[in-house]
Amino acid sequence: MTVATAATAAASRTSAASAPAAATRPPGGPPVRVPCRFLGWGAAVPGGRLTNADLEARLDTSDAWITERTGIRERRTSGSGETTASLATAAGRAALERAGVAPSEVDLVLLATTTADTPCPSTAAHVQHALGTRGPAVDVNAACAGFVYGLHLAAAAIHAGGLSRVLVIGGERITAITDPDDRATAILFGDGAGALLLEVAQPAAGEAGPGLLAVDLGGDGSAIPHLGIPAGDRYLRMDGQEVFRRATRAMATSCEAVLDGAGVSAEDVALFVPHQANRRIIDATAARLGFPADRVAVNIDRYGNTSAASVPMALAEALDAGRLSSGDLVLLSAVGAGLSWGSTLLRWGA
Ligand SMILES: CC(C)(COP(=O)(O)OP(=O)(O)OC[C@H]1O[C@@H](n2cnc3c(N)ncnc32)[C@H](O)[C@@H]1OP(=O)(O)O)[C@@H](O)C(=O)NCCC(=O)NCCS
Repeated sequence: MTVATAATAAASRTSAASAPAAATRPPGGPPVRVPCRFLGWGAAVPGGRLTNADLEARLDTSDAWITERTGIRERRTSGSGETTASLATAAGRAALERAGVAPSEVDLVLLATTTADTPCPSTAAHVQHALGTRGPAVDVNAACAGFVYGLHLAAAAIHAGGLSRVLVIGGERITAITDPDDRATAILFGDGAGALLLEVAQPAAGEAGPGLLAVDLGGDGSAIPHLGIPAGDRYLRMDGQEVFRRATRAMATSCEAVLDGAGVSAEDVALFVPHQANRRIIDATAARLGFPADRVAVNIDRYGNTSAASVPMALAEALDAGRLSSGDLVLLSAVGAGLSWGSTLLRWGA
């Protein structure tokens, strides 16, 4: 199946998803075969560190409450001169260096971000300029799910032809839109960036070549009042309980759609890399899908929720730790404001 067909199928699932019950639709998205290699990865975090003890000192909260309810112990925060663009550039540069690919050999930069430094031009334009890649660069905003959307768009661009290498980055300065006095959100969010470099590959003769094997993207705008920046406000506002309920359901259903679509089960998957929003969401999803703890990437304790940066940061950390080998299946999944959600199954390989 071509990416275009899969995108159409995903779009029809999306429109079917406009009803609140969308996240409970029967799983089973069509498989996608986009052969591509994953050449390099990288991550970057800012210098500031905000611990639970720091929050305890100025908000009506406690280390025990935060740890038990979220799994977060500290987050990284941007200071002077640290922007979404600078974090994304650092992560992107690390991915290029690891791959041994020159910036001039990159055909497109896709930056998933909710926190563009300025409305215009795109933050991706700044990243393109700082890295020195070829011309095209564009922001993708699907909130915390943005990196998974970006991967799908990168694969579609490669599949459509003409582009050989696409650098996909998730980068956020989410603390810029977090109210430091709102204990409902101030405890959750942190800044960072992660990147992955994709390169076109010839279709494998068998089924074992690297690439994207299945994708599920979805949206449910009925959740808009529960998470977002209201008009006239500068900060994110969130109904935590409602978001928790919907996110848990959407992530599990989306992962099941991808596994079903690819015709595999959790037992076949070497690593599950979920969005790091809340340790309880991660654990509930992993348990429902059948992933033991040693096959789940978790770093929420050190970084909190870094929105679109969360999945690529956790993936980069797992790769640095040698948790993936060529030929392994990797399941990525994220849910964010919108709601928007996305999952994809990759067969890893350079
Ligand atoms: C925000 C979140 C951690 C709150 O946890 P929760 O278990 O739902 O907590 P509740 O909102 O039910 O509040 C439980 C109690 O703790 C209190 N509380 C809320 N935030 C608190 C905090 N930071 N510190 C201490 N107590 C807090 C509440 O006031 C409430 O007190 P009460 O029982 O006396 O009324 C959780 O809902 C969550 O993670 N939601 C999803 C967030 C998310 O993923 N957002 C991004 C999506 S990409």
